[in-house]
Amino acid sequence: MSDSLRKYRLSLISSLIAFLLFQLSSPNLVAQARPDAKNLLKQMTIEEKVAQLSQLPGFPIPEFIQQVGNPEAVIRHFGAGSVLWVSDPKQINRIQHIAVDESRLHIPILFGLDVIHGYHTIFPAPIAMASSWDPKLVESAQTVAAREARAAGIAWTFAPMLDIARDARWGRMVEGAGEDPYLGSAIARAQVLGFQGTQPGALDRVLACAKHFAGYGAADGGRDYDSSYIPEEQMWNTYLVPFKAAADAGVGSFMSAYMDLNDVPASGNRWLLHDVLRDTWKYNGFVVSDANAVHSLITHGYAFTAGVNMDMASGTYLKYLIAEVKQGHIAMKQIDDMVLPILEAKIKLGLFEHPYVDEARIPQVLNAPEHQELARTAVQRSVVLLRNEQNALPLSKSQIKSIAVIGPLADAEADLLDMWGAMTKPGPTVSILQGIKNKVGDSVQVEFAHGPNIRRDIPSFFENIPFVPVKEQPKQSPEDAKKAFDDAVDLAKRSDIAIVVLGEIALMSGEAASRSSLKLSGGQEELLEAVAATGKPVVLVLVNGRPLDISWAAEHVPAILETWYSGSQAGNGIADILFGDANPAGHLPVSWPHNSAELPLYYNHTLTQAPEDAPGFTSRYWDALSTPLYPFGYGLSYTTFSYDNLKVSQSEAKVGSTLDVAVDVANTGNRAGDAVVQLYIHQRAGSASRPVRQLKGFQRLTLQPGSKQTIHFKLGPDELQFWSPALKKWVVEPEAFDIWAGDNSQAKLHTEFRLTQ
Ligand code: NOJ
Repeated sequence: MSDSLRKYRLSLISSLIAFLLFQLSSPNLVAQARPDAKNLLKQMTIEEKVAQLSQLPGFPIPEFIQQVGNPEAVIRHFGAGSVLWVSDPKQINRIQHIAVDESRLHIPILFGLDVIHGYHTIFPAPIAMASSWDPKLVESAQTVAAREARAAGIAWTFAPMLDIARDARWGRMVEGAGEDPYLGSAIARAQVLGFQGTQPGALDRVLACAKHFAGYGAADGGRDYDSSYIPEEQMWNTYLVPFKAAADAGVGSFMSAYMDLNDVPASGNRWLLHDVLRDTWKYNGFVVSDANAVHSLITHGYAFTAGVNMDMASGTYLKYLIAEVKQGHIAMKQIDDMVLPILEAKIKLGLFEHPYVDEARIPQVLNAPEHQELARTAVQRSVVLLRNEQNALPLSKSQIKSIAVIGPLADAEADLLDMWGAMTKPGPTVSILQGIKNKVGDSVQVEFAHGPNIRRDIPSFFENIPFVPVKEQPKQSPEDAKKAFDDAVDLAKRSDIAIVVLGEIALMSGEAASRSSLKLSGGQEELLEAVAATGKPVVLVLVNGRPLDISWAAEHVPAILETWYSGSQAGNGIADILFGDANPAGHLPVSWPHNSAELPLYYNHTLTQAPEDAPGFTSRYWDALSTPLYPFGYGLSYTTFSYDNLKVSQSEAKVGSTLDVAVDVANTGNRAGDAVVQLYIHQRAGSASRPVRQLKGFQRLTLQPGSKQTIHFKLGPDELQFWSPALKKWVVEPEAFDIWAGDNSQAKLHTEFRLTQ
């Protein structure tokens, strides 16, 4: 018998044995069939249950192996709930085969990855997508992200991040929708719908995860992972609101946060995970801890059973929970309740029928041209025009002969994806330099000068980790930095116009990337000032994850465009805006401070007896303003809009009524553009102080020059209620209300109404 024939027969025999063993070990489970979760649970040993409650790290972490053994051995013996951060489809299939073919119950693994704003086609970062004020766009982008990720074997994403962020020192502001609970909820719903769709089991969708539950964005001093202290009324009225919206939209999982909330670790916080999530909201999906957070509970002396179903990558459940149950400290019923929603999620996702990746199909899905088109549209719709004196923008190709593209982020690629976008399987990225070249073709001379490198003041922890694709820019000698600076200024001098691209490398925003100062670091401010001093027209293009201190630029640079981290099509989309092929309509989802001394800063604060603009003693610093440089909701367009005729359907109505609010918006300029109409309210008195303004409606619409439209909003109990700290419940109160409509949170157009008993 030839060698190959022998091997073939051997493999045939072993397959047969495996098949027979499979039949014997699981009489009720036919391979590839959709099981019943409760039946499956009945067959499971405690070890197998706890394995389902565990997410194993996708790469060998020595401490993990020391604690519980090699992840693959665990899978072989007991299966696993999930595996974190394996993105290579070949590896996914290999590991999935271990679970499905070799583990006793053949339960497939749920592979989880941070697909935050794209998998291969990278869309603008979440704060940018929120700047579009366009939930439909957000939904479409996450639909594409889900399609690509699922095609490559990822069935679970750790998004959306729903943390309200009022402090730009906190680096993770970039991952969320900003400071406002109403906008945040609309964006949350859109993301859940985009990721999950409405058809359970659809193979082009993924399970979403609402994170980080809750209050993570309120870290003391903006320092990532530090404690949050949030009074109950702020939890209900602000921080929990987007999470509730996600739960109502059917989000399949939640992630508990790392930090202490009011002195109780969020991942062991029974009030959050049990009283709020399960009891009050009746949530029946599952909760995963943030990475290693369950392990941290040990140091806090907290119990395991506050409400986290799945332990992310720490191995703590595997190490302790089995013994806890065997010793009778934790009831099996409790374990069963924790396992059941995980099995149900796997069943709903269609994992039992389709556990493997079809590797041959992946390129066709990832390279769909319409994905790139959508990414470009997303850039166009999310950039925010902050300043445009004397219509400095858009630029005209026919009037410019030479452009100096300057700055340490102008030719960047990976940095435009932000940390998460760079961590999945991103395709090519169009740099801003390239986008400008693509736009102007050969008719305009485009030259580039990098300027001095950007580095963090304190070297980054990530710097030397090979799998982190975004890097610090190399250290330069003072001479090299000076030469780079001088070259850039010289280039500006000999060009018609300078487009200066400044901001933050990707590592400066995101996780563990808090900053005490929002200044343009690494000599960028000096470079900007020197380029402006040449007298050439300057356009400042910002690439960053949080508002920056641009106080000088806001007075001296005629055009400023906030582009955030705008993904694969960054350069093309930004060039579309710069040259007027698209009209900007992004609006800020955060209040933009002058500098970090003003933080935290948010528009929906309560009244003070002495606001900044009152005479006498006022609520302000001696040496700085306490109002924003640009307010929440602000953004310019190449056209202009007027707002008139703000009317409410009844000037007096009973509590419980729903009122109609109408406002006319007209395009008063001479080109088509999108208006972002915003509705704000204020309750004048009541059982508690109410915010000076609260967003309660918005709509983005396109208007041709000279055209006008009446926009309607509804104000009903959902919009008018709040959680009263005095009454400890949700109330709609018989009080007087102000209403404003316009294009930012300082809109002047006003009317009022009164609710009566
Ligand atoms: C830690 C981060 O806080 C969380 O957002 C992320 O989803 C997990 N790591 C997994 O990568």
